[in-house]
Amino acid sequence: MERIFSGVQPSGNLTLGNYLGAIRNWVKLQDDYESIFCVVDMHAITVWQDPEELRRATREVAAGMLAAGVDPKKNILFNQSNVPAHAELGWVLNCVARLGWLNRMTQFKEKAGKHKENASCGLYVYPNLMAADILIYKATHVPVGDDQKQHLELARDIAQKFNNDFQKEVFPLPEPMIFGSATRVMSLRDGTKKMSKSDPSDYSRIAMTDDADTIAKKVRKAKTDPHPIPESVDGFEDRAEAKNLMNIYAALSDVTLADVCQQYGGQSFADFKKALTDLAVEKLSPISQEMQRYMADPAEVDAILKEGGERANAIAQPVMDEVKDVVGFLRP
Ligand code: TYM
Repeated sequence: MERIFSGVQPSGNLTLGNYLGAIRNWVKLQDDYESIFCVVDMHAITVWQDPEELRRATREVAAGMLAAGVDPKKNILFNQSNVPAHAELGWVLNCVARLGWLNRMTQFKEKAGKHKENASCGLYVYPNLMAADILIYKATHVPVGDDQKQHLELARDIAQKFNNDFQKEVFPLPEPMIFGSATRVMSLRDGTKKMSKSDPSDYSRIAMTDDADTIAKKVRKAKTDPHPIPESVDGFEDRAEAKNLMNIYAALSDVTLADVCQQYGGQSFADFKKALTDLAVEKLSPISQEMQRYMADPAEVDAILKEGGERANAIAQPVMDEVKDVVGFLRP
């Protein structure tokens, strides 16, 4: 059976990048796969999180998934810390993954920055926990944005090494699913940087909770260049910001970048930005309104997460028992 697992960290406001790169694709896939979607709160604490804010952000990310159309009846939606098997398998995989593999992870280098010695140990072994998230459900497919590709390759290596070490096909090798026109949405201030929840500049991102005025202001201030809009996709050399805005437009309207070039080629960015604002507001405001409705009713969100956690546990626990037996842990 084909099964999806994917997750989002509750480490700040959900961004347009999370929506276009991941959550929107989940909604498209949910009819064709058994799907498990997770608010990965244990990943969030690899960097400092204020406890009250973490609880709020956990509900907000769940609200964002629900508002975007993730159906909690059809799928499992839960928060990671509520299913202990993630941490249990995470430990076993810490003992399978090799230091050399983790040393290659570019996201650790970016996040730890110059002060590597001060980074938490959790930040370093984060990719092992991510592998555990996927493998504890024997998930076969993982829909994510482009920035998670390296972590998924590692998850495959870990699964393969576990199976080889113990001479048993316990874990399927999970396939990444990276698709759509916006697999890597870039910062609105710097077209070479990924749009991220943790960027210090609020103007670098569109948050899923932004109202129409805020979206308009951010799009207006988004960096562009003095040239007119290119008429074909060949015209984007050294124009990362222009390409990013047009990619966002393409993704939000479900057309290709080439279509957007054809439609707006030769025009000024001022006009294009007005069109992009209108489109973003049209697509995002129903979602942000629905998010607000969920956020006003935390008991409803908690009930959904609780039920999801129980269903996730029911799948994860027997896999953890199997892992214990394979590894040689006594279950008296
Ligand atoms: P996170 O929380 O950074 O992002 C959640 C999802 O959103 C995608 N994404 C983007 N896509 C396009 N453009 C962007 N600018 C952008 N920013 C974020 C991410 O690719 C991701 O799909 N390690 C993961 C969370 C995780 C996970 C997992 C994912 C933990 N365990 C198991 C899949 C399977 C992360 O930090 O995502």
